[in-house]
Order: sequence, then C-alpha cells, then structure tokens
Amino acid sequence: MKPDVLIDGVLVSGDDASVSVFDVGYQRGFGCFEAMRAYGGVPFRAVEHLSRLESSAAALHLDLVDRETIAGWVSDRAASGGDCVVRVFVSATSFDAPPRVVVFAEPIPEVPVGLRLMPLPAPWHPAGRGTELVGAKTMSYAPNLAAMRRAVAAGYDDALLIDDDGCVLEGPTYSVGWATGGRVYTPALGQGILGSITRAAVFEVAATAGVEVEEGRFPLEQTLAADEMFVMSTVREVRPVVRVDDVEFEPGTVTEVLASGFRALVTEETA
Ligand SMILES: Cc1ncc(COP(=O)(O)O)c(C=O)c1O
Repeated sequence: MKPDVLIDGVLVSGDDASVSVFDVGYQRGFGCFEAMRAYGGVPFRAVEHLSRLESSAAALHLDLVDRETIAGWVSDRAASGGDCVVRVFVSATSFDAPPRVVVFAEPIPEVPVGLRLMPLPAPWHPAGRGTELVGAKTMSYAPNLAAMRRAVAAGYDDALLIDDDGCVLEGPTYSVGWATGGRVYTPALGQGILGSITRAAVFEVAATAGVEVEEGRFPLEQTLAADEMFVMSTVREVRPVVRVDDVEFEPGTVTEVLASGFRALVTEETA
C-alpha cells in the first residue's frame, strides 16, 4: 500500500498523490531532497537533515518555506510511519512559483547485511573540485544510480566511487570508512562527498569509544589493505562491507563498536 503524502502540508492518499509532468524536478532533475530515519515515530537528527535541505535549496536558488513548517510535516509523517524513512522532496513546476514540498514516510527498504562493492570511476563527482552544488543533495542522482545499477548488473550489491586519481570517494547513496590497526579512515568532506549525517554521528560514537578517526584522501589500494570496512547512511546505519572488487573483508570489532554505538545513540536521542 502506498503511504499518504503531504504536498505543501495537504494530506493526500498515496494513490492520488501526483506531481505535474511539467515539474522541473521530473523533467530536469532540478530539485533537492532528504531522507531521514524515524525510530518509533521520532525522526533521528531532524535538525541536521533540515539544515542540509535548506543548504541544498539555497544552492539551487529555491526559496524554501520556513523550517518549523517542514519540521511539523516531517514529525507528522514520522509519527504515522513509526519505524520508517521519511522522505522530503523539493521541486517546482515553474521557476516563478514557490517550490513544492512533498513529505511521506516509507517502510525501511531491505538492504544487504554485508555489502559487496564494485569500485567504479566517478568522473562526474566533484571529487575535490569546488562546484556550486558540492554538498547539496540535489535530485540529479542519475550518475550515482547508474553506477549502482552497473555494479548490481555485474553481481555486486552496490558501487564504490573512485576519483580520477584512484582515491576513494563514497558510495552512490552512502559514506564509507575502514579500519586498519584499530584506527578509522574515511574520505574527507573536502573530497566533495555528501556531508553524511550518519557519518557525523559515527564520529561522535568513535570519540566516545576512544577510536581515532582520520579524514583524508586515500588511494583505493589503502582501502583494500584495511582490516575491515563499513558503509554509513541513514537507511543502512553502519553496516559491514564483505567484499570490494575481489578482496574479501571479515566484519570486525571496530565496525561492531561503531554500529552498536550508533544504535545506542539513536535510542538515547529518539527514546
Ligand atoms: C552520495 C551520498 N553519500 C552519503 C550519504 C549518506 O548520508 P546520510 O548519512 O546523511 O544519509 C548519502 C545518502 O543518501 C548519499 O546520497
């Protein structure tokens, strides 16, 4: 069954919810979005997600309705969905009208417990080049999703995006990290990766657990030589990677500490 949808605050049944074919989001991928997890009807880190939505909208020169209003819509849908993913889409049918905000709650998608990743070049990625849209979660996800589909077609679960110099960036819809000798390494935000809210929360968990984290620019070979590897995202939380290319990883203790610490943080904040 399709979930009910708030369109600019008006509740519409999922079967009737629609957006014009003249929408520039539909036609050109022009717009931005957010996905946040709700636990027992309470969104996790909604403030951070709504801040990122505002920056994404600002980067696209879209005048978003005020934060309290959107926060109210998010809370409403989160409460209706319980344990769910609340999605917020911002797009416009005309550049002359205020952007439309669509909010709904979906069941949590099934994702593999241990991921097998295919490294793929990502020449479209900002990868450290300063562009106006760095850090914006825009609707233009076709290159990322094409990489994911290419990886799936080749028998992997998803892709690992690599820059022109062979350095690791992120996944199409997640951040990555790995551990060597008990120390965590992860590509820096300066690489033009998305400012993942899960990744930031994992840094807090690591600090509490006494695990050192180094952000930087790391060649794929260094990642492949790691003791363990993991992904981070709203939908996946913290999950082990079990294979990259033909290199296998065992889920390890650092990943376990971060995954369970993240869960504890969620419980603390959403209880
Ligand atoms: C490219 C990319 N990187 C990282 C992430 C993880 O971000 P978050 O932890 O805020 O979900 C996402 C989430 O969709 C993403 O699309």
